[in-house]
Amino acid sequence: MEIRLSGKRALVTGASSGIGAAIALALGQAGADIAINYHSHPEAARAIAGQIEAFGVKTFCTQADVASADDVARMFTEVESGLGPVDILVNNAGVDGPRALGWEADPAAWEQVVRINLFGPFVCAHYALQGMTQRRSGVVINITSVHEVIPWAGYSAYTASKAGLGMLTKTLAQEAASFGVRVLAVAPGAIQTPINQSVWGNPAGLADLLTKIPYGRLGKPEEIGALVVVLASDAAAYLTGTTIFLDGGMTLYPSFQHGG
Ligand code: BGC
Repeated sequence: MEIRLSGKRALVTGASSGIGAAIALALGQAGADIAINYHSHPEAARAIAGQIEAFGVKTFCTQADVASADDVARMFTEVESGLGPVDILVNNAGVDGPRALGWEADPAAWEQVVRINLFGPFVCAHYALQGMTQRRSGVVINITSVHEVIPWAGYSAYTASKAGLGMLTKTLAQEAASFGVRVLAVAPGAIQTPINQSVWGNPAGLADLLTKIPYGRLGKPEEIGALVVVLASDAAAYLTGTTIFLDGGMTLYPSFQHGG
């Protein structure tokens, strides 16, 4: 089955690198016009735009800090006048934040992670759903993490924000379903991107990480892109309010492969 998204417009946040860039490329390859949101690297966003335009679709680069409600409001105005109404929103922008135990963490840094990973997707969905519910069509896809369900010492802001994003997904899905609008989450495991390069980039870190992945390898950003294309399409027309874990089995309690 070939999935085409021609005539659709997608906005992908944090699309200038990593998983976001791969999602933007995959949606563009499937025929959608793409708004590429970036925070601080216009040249990287332009480079991704160039690759996407080679698929014969339109692109629009838009700077915004998703943690700022004002930035997000301006971004939606810009995208809707530059590209058209948003049919597919992918809330991908996110950060791990500094590693610190709960009682040692800087509360301001903790709050900033939650603002980027949870408040940002809420504000983006808020604006996207205004149009989608009116047009009675559209899909919001939130990129969470296996840490939606797996606790992770040192990253309580990250895990709490991703768990919150999972529940935001379900609640918005419940609200939007009768308008023909779907809201979903994708939870990546360890995908090889700059965010976790300090782990997979050194032999001890990589060996430890692989013990946590039954499938025996890291995921590739384009594997997330391919899933997002399916979820955004009518192939998934009856799927809403759930998280798809794309993690090579990371959420399967791999330490129980032996013993117990
Ligand atoms: C984090 C990565 C980590 C992976 C698995 C992701 O959400 O961003 O840094 O490797 O989860 O723990």
